[in-house]
Amino acid sequence: MSQTAEIKVDGKTIELPIIEGTENEKAIDISKLRGQSGIITMDPGFKNTGSTQSSITFLNGEEGILRYRGYDIADLAENSNFLEVSYLLIYGALPTQEQYDKFQQEVTTHTMVHEDIKNILDGFPSISHPMGVLSSLICSLTAFYPNSLNPNRSKSEIDLSIIRLLAKLPTLAAWSYKHKIGHPVNYPDNSLDYTSRFLKMMFGLPAEQYEVDPVVAKALDQLLILHADHEQNCSTSTVRVVGSSHASIYASISAGINALWGPLHGGANQAVIEMLEEIKADGGDTKKFLDKAKDKNDPFRLMGFGHRVYKNFDPRAKIIKKAADDVLAKLGVNDPILDIAKGLEEAALNDDYFVERKLYPNVDFYSGIIYRAMGIPTEMFTVMFAMGRLPGWIAQWKEMRENNEPIGRPRQIYTGENERPYVPMNKR
Ligand code: CMC
Repeated sequence: MSQTAEIKVDGKTIELPIIEGTENEKAIDISKLRGQSGIITMDPGFKNTGSTQSSITFLNGEEGILRYRGYDIADLAENSNFLEVSYLLIYGALPTQEQYDKFQQEVTTHTMVHEDIKNILDGFPSISHPMGVLSSLICSLTAFYPNSLNPNRSKSEIDLSIIRLLAKLPTLAAWSYKHKIGHPVNYPDNSLDYTSRFLKMMFGLPAEQYEVDPVVAKALDQLLILHADHEQNCSTSTVRVVGSSHASIYASISAGINALWGPLHGGANQAVIEMLEEIKADGGDTKKFLDKAKDKNDPFRLMGFGHRVYKNFDPRAKIIKKAADDVLAKLGVNDPILDIAKGLEEAALNDDYFVERKLYPNVDFYSGIIYRAMGIPTEMFTVMFAMGRLPGWIAQWKEMRENNEPIGRPRQIYTGENERPYVPMNKR
């Protein structure tokens, strides 16, 4: 028998259905509550609100579990590759060899972008942050593919937009960096795999031979897998809400890139390195910075620490911490920042403030150190995150549209002035 919950409002008892997921997670369905009682629920930051029923990613913050379509993140990071994981997220099952070959072939075919995009790129000042450039260029795809504005497109047209996004985002990401440093852009080398192709566009110079380091390519591919989806986080919810108005998939993904940019979300990977640099420049006194983070009058937060849903450990951070050690050793990089990070982590994990609030290192704490070792500049870190999160955003956008979900439109409790008459300016 299906379970229900009861809520009493002004002496009237209202029965509400309880929804249960495949991992036994439960939710009280309040969608009819207002109609039955006149009241709404309040939950700033949606800390306890489910916005959808999704079959893409399962996350259990208490136990530190993260699975894409039922597959454990560690299993995928170890054994799969980013393109295969992208297919899994978007289409719901691991591809057969034939499906994979076709998917890879299609993505490879669409890696070039229209030459006019270079004109848009050239309009940005070189001081532009690459995240702003990337989101603008992704949104500009609506102009090159105006058919994407049609909300009633066929499945095959949507699939083509998906392929274009996966194919072109790395090109635009690498170009946003080349533009920043004043280098000519590199065209995609389609003889390479997805991640290596990006690295060559990012680091290669037209006048020089560029050999992709397999250690770097493998590590980047793993990082992309670990970032590929994370259920209803800030940027993914943004993508779903924007898409729920039937906006183009390019506009929706562009909005997700902007949401990711903030330092409380994906922008934390850049902020972590800046914080570690600051600690180093200040003499390496981690205690001083822990005290700052604990001081409620100081806006400083320990970047790369804490998470809305993980209250035990972030399974991605565990894998990335080990990968940071491995990659730095394989590349022969000795980065003093890594020691500061480890010292800071140890001090925080033994500090009552962080223990009581269950604040652990998150995915962004060690990822920046690996990016640095690969030679990726700090301002590009969040762009790397966007590249990784892209298949997740796409899968979530597609699921939302296929389920024909209603437009996202929360309610509010108004706390402003009551009705009052207009007073002409000369009488105020
Ligand atoms: N440093 C110091 N105190 C913290 C931190 C931190 N990094 N994170 C949370 N707290 C404190 C916070 O002040 C609050 O204390 P109190 O209960 O005394 O008021 C308590 O812990 C709960 O924090 P919250 O802000 O209510 O939690 P939230 O779920 O709203 O915020 C968060 C989650 C990730 C925004 C936050 O932990 C944070 O700002 N962390 C630093 C930024 C960061 O690393 N972001 C990347 C997140 S992982 C990548 C991604 O998926 O986006």
